[in-house]
Amino acid sequence: MNFSLNEDQKMIRQMARDFATKELEPKAAEIDASGEFPHDSIKKMAELGLLVMVIPEQYGGAGFDFVSLAIAVEEISRGCGSTGVITAVHNSLASWPIANWGTDAQKQQYLPKMATGEMLGAFGLTEPNCGSDPASMETKAVLDGDHYVLNGAKRFITNGGVADVFIVFAVTDPAAGSKGISAFIVEKTHPGFSVGKHEELLGLRATANCELIFEDCKVPKENLLGGLNQGFKVAMGTLDVSRIDIGAQAVGIAQAAFDKALAYSQERKQFGKAICEFEMIQEKLALMATSIEAARLLVYSAAAQKDAGKKRFSKESAMCKLFAATTAVEVTKEAVQIYGGYGYTKDYPVERYFRDAKCMEIYEGTSEIQKIVIARSLLG
Ligand code: CAA
Repeated sequence: MNFSLNEDQKMIRQMARDFATKELEPKAAEIDASGEFPHDSIKKMAELGLLVMVIPEQYGGAGFDFVSLAIAVEEISRGCGSTGVITAVHNSLASWPIANWGTDAQKQQYLPKMATGEMLGAFGLTEPNCGSDPASMETKAVLDGDHYVLNGAKRFITNGGVADVFIVFAVTDPAAGSKGISAFIVEKTHPGFSVGKHEELLGLRATANCELIFEDCKVPKENLLGGLNQGFKVAMGTLDVSRIDIGAQAVGIAQAAFDKALAYSQERKQFGKAICEFEMIQEKLALMATSIEAARLLVYSAAAQKDAGKKRFSKESAMCKLFAATTAVEVTKEAVQIYGGYGYTKDYPVERYFRDAKCMEIYEGTSEIQKIVIARSLLG
């Protein structure tokens, strides 16, 4: 495998890093406190082509590869964890399944508007009674003439409160388990759709994480995505892609925490010298830097295998998400420790990184689910 970035990838890294440093990082604490969705930043990201990075240019996308998308999500997350997942969800959980499974009419209808930010996307799989086990979902869709009628609810939906278009999964054949689920493209204007409770999250607080409610919601039958009863495969195939970006998000948050902790350890003096001169701090810094680098390589490797055309990369994507999530939690925890009492206050950003990092082990499949995916792949 070639580990060096090409010129496009280097350019994207620099562009996303500059944007995150100038635009996102200065606002991150404020939107974490207020929970306000960063509409202005998302608009600017659309202008930079960061909203539909892997979508073909004929549909208004940037036509970049999956390594580039991972790099962009990593850099954006380094500036602001909330904006990192907003970007990841719009790119890989919402736009990409339309690009991959959509009909030409669906692609024409949605992708150009998702590229400009006119339509923001979200992904509705999780429900109040089903998280790790989506095959047990309760939301139902019944064909009635020209429409499917959806009834049910989705919970913990990133971008849920502000999105215009949703990839929604519902049972279309109740007797068939995971083979009786279909995917739909639902618009917020479809009658019977509404947004429910806004979640007060521990971290990633500016992500408009909301419940979605479907009460006799009428969705045109041409908005079925990927074929009748093919929804479980659409969901799993999409998560294989998007888990790489959550790995990238975890790397970005961990890198931000490390950068701050490294600088602080060189400034903070105790016992007459900078704390970085103590070997116990040096050990922390060495282990933090090593695991971040290892996580980054796993993320790039998974993305590169997708780019190389590997058909099934569930194991690689689960491995990078699992390892990067563990790394993010451990590195941000150690960053708080290096800051000591100050790290436990809101005067410094490391407590926010710590809160943001925890979600990496929970959403888009818990770490326990990633271990199941990896073990099943190993056992064949
Ligand atoms: N690609 C294609 N097909 C797949 C697949 C994949 N990655 N994974 C499974 N399938 C297929 C299987 O091959 C099988 O089909 P066949 O019988 O034809 O072979 C079918 O799907 C059922 O597969 P399983 O029997 O393995 O399904 P399962 O019910 O045991 O579940 C699981 C497997 C891995 C545990 C899965 O349920 C899972 O990933 N759970 C976690 C869900 C998750 O990540 N939720 C997060 C929601 S998104 C989010 O967090 C919101 C947000 O806003 C950020």
